[in-house]
Amino acid sequence: MAMTEFLAYVPIFSELPDETLSKIERIGSCKTFSKNDVILMEEESGTALFVIMNGKVKVSRTSTDGREVILTILGEGDFFGEMAILDGLTRSATVVAIEDTELFMIQRNDFMTMLHEHPEISIALLQELTKRLRAADMKIKALSLKDAEGKVATVILQLADEIGKIKHGKVEIDKLPLQQDLANMAGTSRETISRTLHSFAKKGLVELDGNKLKILDYEKFRGMFI
Ligand code: CMP
Repeated sequence: MAMTEFLAYVPIFSELPDETLSKIERIGSCKTFSKNDVILMEEESGTALFVIMNGKVKVSRTSTDGREVILTILGEGDFFGEMAILDGLTRSATVVAIEDTELFMIQRNDFMTMLHEHPEISIALLQELTKRLRAADMKIKALSLKDAEGKVATVILQLADEIGKIKHGKVEIDKLPLQQDLANMAGTSRETISRTLHSFAKKGLVELDGNKLKILDYEKFRGMFI
């Protein structure tokens, strides 16, 4: 795929004319990372914004005693690294490649110039940040108010939104993260994840097959836990 074709598919750039996409192509550069490579670290300073061309990353924070909470998983077409660029503070989280990943990188000054010259990028960026704030609000609610089933269901619904495929009211998640990663997303233990997923399967809410998970009636499942 030509780079401008890829850029046109990235939600924050999708409204732009071809000549602007060519301009973005010229100001950015590509960088590849292998699975498990750290792309950026919480508390470091940083001056680049990244767009995922292919692969997946996890965004996480770690406590002083080494426990990890996964904030989100991002995939093709998603961006990250905008926070340190916009507020000039250090990186708010650590980003690690969970698959071999290819990124398109834009430096702060070039990105800021683009935001000034093309307000449609700023609006698309605000829309995506609003979506992330909604997801974060949902997570705060789950972590503070919900029992184990509610926490696990919230993570499954988050993954369904991010990487699920919808078909006839069912949502299929093809590559479910490892149970320890699910635990770090839900703020619970690996054992609780395992027990709760099996209990959901027993109740006929989900179907489990290796690292595939199917929500059998998405609307009903959402209605039960959100
Ligand atoms: P920055 O703080 O520059 O570096 C870490 C990046 O992780 C951050 O920018 C965002 O792009 C991303 N990030 C941090 N928190 C979240 C979140 N809750 N949801 C999605 N992405 C996030």
